[in-house]
Amino acid sequence: MPLLERDTASNPEGLPKVPVPPLKQTLDTYLKCVQHLVKPEEFDKTKAVVEKFGATGGVGEVLQKKLLERRDKMDNWVYEYWLEDMYLSNRLALPVNSSPVMVFPKQTFKDQKDALRYASRLIEGVLEYKALIDARALPVEFARGQLAGTRLCMEQYSRLFTSYRYPGLKTDTLKVQMKAASSTSEHVIVACKNQFFVLDVVTSSKPLSETEILSQLEKITSMAGNEEEKSPPFGILTSDGRSEWAEARDTLTKEKDNRESLGLIEGCLCVLCLDEAGGTKPSDTNRALLMLHGGGQEKNGANRWYDKSMQFVVGMDGVCGVLCDHSPFEGVVLGQCSEYLTKYIAGTPSEAVKQASARKLPAPRRLLWKCTARIQGLLAASGERLQRLVNNLDMDVFKFKDYGKEFIKKQKMSPDAFIQVALQLAFFKCNGRLVSTYESASMRRFRNGRVDNIRSATAEALAFVKSMTDERTANTDIEKMKKLRDAIHAQTNYTIAAITGMAIDNHLLGLLKTSKELNMERPEIFCDETYLASNQFILSTSQMSTTLEMFCCYGPVVPNGYGACYNPQPDHIVFCVSSFWESTQTSSAVFVKALNEGLLEIRDLCGAVTKVAQEGGGQEGSRPHRSVT
Ligand code: COA
Repeated sequence: MPLLERDTASNPEGLPKVPVPPLKQTLDTYLKCVQHLVKPEEFDKTKAVVEKFGATGGVGEVLQKKLLERRDKMDNWVYEYWLEDMYLSNRLALPVNSSPVMVFPKQTFKDQKDALRYASRLIEGVLEYKALIDARALPVEFARGQLAGTRLCMEQYSRLFTSYRYPGLKTDTLKVQMKAASSTSEHVIVACKNQFFVLDVVTSSKPLSETEILSQLEKITSMAGNEEEKSPPFGILTSDGRSEWAEARDTLTKEKDNRESLGLIEGCLCVLCLDEAGGTKPSDTNRALLMLHGGGQEKNGANRWYDKSMQFVVGMDGVCGVLCDHSPFEGVVLGQCSEYLTKYIAGTPSEAVKQASARKLPAPRRLLWKCTARIQGLLAASGERLQRLVNNLDMDVFKFKDYGKEFIKKQKMSPDAFIQVALQLAFFKCNGRLVSTYESASMRRFRNGRVDNIRSATAEALAFVKSMTDERTANTDIEKMKKLRDAIHAQTNYTIAAITGMAIDNHLLGLLKTSKELNMERPEIFCDETYLASNQFILSTSQMSTTLEMFCCYGPVVPNGYGACYNPQPDHIVFCVSSFWESTQTSSAVFVKALNEGLLEIRDLCGAVTKVAQEGGGQEGSRPHRSVT
């Protein structure tokens, strides 16, 4: 079965294809990216291996030629390679390890009906947004920031409500169902008290009104409370490792009831999770935790179906948001959709909507499950594994209030590059070294473009963070400022390379995958310790800016790493830092403290240098700068 079942042959947007960078350029950049992160003797070995790979008539040339042929033949040569490598072959559980969440503004619901009214508007908003997607009527987006103005690929939107990720023993499959836009029926799955219900939202081509959805949701909450009809918490199975869930799914499908229930979930638009109150103070950090894992089986962890791309959570305590399977689209698309829905919910329903009479609709159907003793055992095992993940996640949502991107722009620096350098400084303060870092860079300037990696731990960043932390070198403010500008310049240049298709990670992956397809022995360059280490992203970062008060977060991608998602605003920056308690090498609170210190130190450095420049002197600035802690 192909990994992605979708015809991607058309190119209605007329966008260029993702390029294949020149081989020598990628190999040179690779060496530059790793040289300062590994020991000199390791680097010498790596350099020799890379040179052999790239030599005239070497393996690299053969693979590059094949990749260029692939580029000619396909719409996007890297899409399937990347999708498989980044998501589908990853065996880790989706919650925390892979699925990002968008935490919506905290709500204050008067009572359950108020919460259900919010949920009804949300679903109505989904229907309206889906209609815009189907009609290809969403406004086309254009790049902002670096290389602003270029038209962006809108393809990812079409997968928001049509995708489903099937678990597999070795690799998952992402299926995209392209129903006719004029589909006569659509349904949403509603999860309530770990029970699942089919809510028909379009019947006989007519979407349900908000009042009708509300009335159906009220029926669902009442049915969910019926103890006699209660099924075991089947959703917990989807929170497990992908191979474990694939095995469990095989067992489930032996029963007809289960096959039918799975079919209905797999064909839904989205899942609406009506959550019980989480029982914790609704701080930003606690809301992020509840959204990421539902608080485990004891709370709302089983009130989910993780394979489905979009799961909206409406908690009775006002904790709301959306969590998504990351494989069909990027966070930016999730963000746009979330903002649309948030505005829709906050808007005033039209008079026509308020006065519309509600149809008498049949009650929503409860999904039926057949549970054998074996399945009972699987449910218990999945529940335990989710609980371990819940206990392990160390999350810290930190709002840095001293300045935001306007201050950074005034320094004539790229805000994104500045924040990346600050993250490097924070990591260095905690660990005394830099590590392989991932920053997602959008490739939506290209046909079906997804992302590539900006390797932010540059040599220039290392020189800067050393100058800020090593008292012995006693750099002057002017020297530190020069190093800061060099680091930001290097970061900005890498960003521009990445968004124009000239980064190295996708290219190296393509060369590796091509060697596999040719049944070649794994080339030495990809067996090298340096290569393996350079793909362990101890720092996994991403910018997710929003125009409304909401924030995105996710977990670390390696056991000893950090996830760091940030949302730059004009006068503040929200950072969501995650790590695992089980690692003795990480602590989100310690990282956040270092980040705060570093951001203040950089601000003071900018201030000190500006002051000297304004005073027209050079002598003042030659004094070592004192850190503010
Ligand atoms: N002086 C003054 N202003 C500057 C500047 C400078 N030297 N450099 C940039 N700016 C301004 C830009 O013009 C822009 O202005 P705007 O806010 O009016 O649009 C703003 O600062 C932001 O630019 P910058 O910080 O450089 O970043 P960017 O917006 O180009 O973002 C990436 C860089 C890598 C984050 C972006 O290209 C990207 O790929 N985003 C998607 C990330 C993603 O996929 N996230 C989700 C993953 S799931």
